[in-house]
Formats: sequence, structure tokens, C-alpha cells
Amino acid sequence: MKRDLLTIRDLSAEEIHRLIRRAQEMKDERHSGKLHPTLSGRILGLIFVKPSTRTRVSFETAMYRLGGRCVFMTAHDLQISRQEPMADTARVLSRYLDGLVIRTFAHEDVEELAHYATIPVINGLTDRFHPCQVLSDLLTIQEKRGSLENLCVAWIGDGNNVAHSWINAAARLGFTLYLACPREYLPEKEILEWAKNEGRGAIHVVHDPKAAVASADVLYTDVWASMGQEAEAEERKKIFHSFQINEELLAAAPAHAMVLHCLPAHRGEEITDGVIEGPQSVVFDQAENRMFLQMALLEWLM
Ligand code: CP
Ligand code: NVA
Repeated sequence: MKRDLLTIRDLSAEEIHRLIRRAQEMKDERHSGKLHPTLSGRILGLIFVKPSTRTRVSFETAMYRLGGRCVFMTAHDLQISRQEPMADTARVLSRYLDGLVIRTFAHEDVEELAHYATIPVINGLTDRFHPCQVLSDLLTIQEKRGSLENLCVAWIGDGNNVAHSWINAAARLGFTLYLACPREYLPEKEILEWAKNEGRGAIHVVHDPKAAVASADVLYTDVWASMGQEAEAEERKKIFHSFQINEELLAAAPAHAMVLHCLPAHRGEEITDGVIEGPQSVVFDQAENRMFLQMALLEWLM
């Protein structure tokens, strides 16, 4: 049966560890010049309703490095922009393609696409989740830290799609996650409830960033206004101003802590230039790892 990746909940802990191991193996082998043409002759479709630098290019290059090809589509190019149902789009594209990545607004659209598609569907970001980001971040953390054992991650900022994927990951793998968010911008209740019922991981929602980072191995932030929330950006700046990863907050974290940001970053808002360019920041290694994790993911699903 085909498998999809709509959220990290679709994966077992063992599957996550296996993906990370395979991604690291392919990354290590790249430097020895070894090729992995495991998807030769296969075609991946990409539907992007929102803009992207990393997700699009890392999926396309991942597919090419595996010997496959890609068809990139914006919503504007497709009849979904003229109300053709997702269900019909899914069934038609399944006849041409071997896998499909979609980035869009409503998570339900991706669920509908996956339900009707007979090929694997991968969520490349919705308003609610960004699973590929967090899976590749786990690769980065394991690579830098040596393991994911006894991990403590501090999320600073908006309780958004990336934060939701961190909650799913913490509950699945069983690590400690602090989320420091303004009271008006907490993660969704349903997602926190699901995590609680999973019974693994220790997830704490707090409002003081310093309390969140005190024992953190990883400090993580993301933009205060996500794609689609541009009209709220000015209002959010006022509410989020104390939820910034800056030099003072970093000094309140253990000396070994590393700083991650999914990018794109707004320097001077959620993170200072000094921190993102500083020695504890790993954001470009993090961006690079998107490609290797997704190579492992594509190889497995397709
Ligand atoms: N982090 C991330 O998903 O970046 P893009 O929006 O550029 O794809
Ligand atoms: N939360 C951000 C992530 C961008 C990769 C957004 O949805 O715009």
C-alpha cells in the first residue's frame, strides 16, 4: 500500500530514525562521489501554491540526485485555480506521476489529495504542519550532537505550522520540548491534546523565553508572520517583540546550545543578525540537510 507523509504522525519512531540514518549515509557518501540512482525513470510532481526557495529546490535536486525527474507546477498553472476539485486532480496526476509534493494553505486540501491519489503524497508545508522541515532538522541535530537521546528543544515565537510539527516529533520520539509563545499565539489545542495522549515526550508551553531555554540543547525560531498572514505582520511585531532569539537569550541557554531557524529569516525580528551569523547558528547546514533527508524520504516512499 502507498504511504504518504502529511504529518510526522504518519511515521513511527523507528521509521523516523531509519530515514535519518539513510539520509546521513547518503550525505556521507556524496563526498566520496557515490551516486544513488534508486529512482531512475521515476517522476515527482510538485504543486506549489505558496512560494518556496528551500523546499522546492531541495526536493527537485533530491529527485535529480536519485536519477529521477520533476514536474513543477504552481496553482496558477493548474485547473485547481479554476475550481477543478482536488479529488479529480489527484486521480489524474496519479496516472502521470510516481509521487507528489504539495505546498498550500489548507491542510484539508492535502488530505483530500492524498485520499484520492494512488501515489505517495508529501506535505511540503500547509498552514498547520511542515513535517519535512522538522524531519531534516532532526538529522541536523543528530549530526551535530551525535544523538537524539535526552534532547531538549526550545521553540521561541509563534505556535505555528513548524511548531506543530515539533510537537508531533517530540511526542513520537519522546524528547523534551519547551514552547515559549505569546498567550494569543499558542499552538493548536488539538495538537497539544494529541501529543499528551501519545504519552511520550515532555511538552511544556510557557510564556517566558528564558525559562524555555534554560536547559535547551537547541534554540529554534521562525518568522512571526507566516505566509498568508502578511496583513497581520505589523500587529504581530508588537506582540512578539520579547520572543526574539538575541544575544541575551542565548546567554541564558547552556553554552553548548545550537541555534536553528527554518528560514527565511527576518533579522531584527525573531532573531538578531549577531545570533544568526554567530558561532552557535547552524542554519545553513540545516538548510542543506533538507535535501538529504528528502532523498531518503523519496527513496523510501517512491
Ligand atoms: N524552510 C522552508 O521551508 O523554506 P522555503 O519556504 O524556502 O521552502
Ligand atoms: N511558518 C513559516 C515557515 C516558512 C518555511 C510559514 O509558514 O511561512
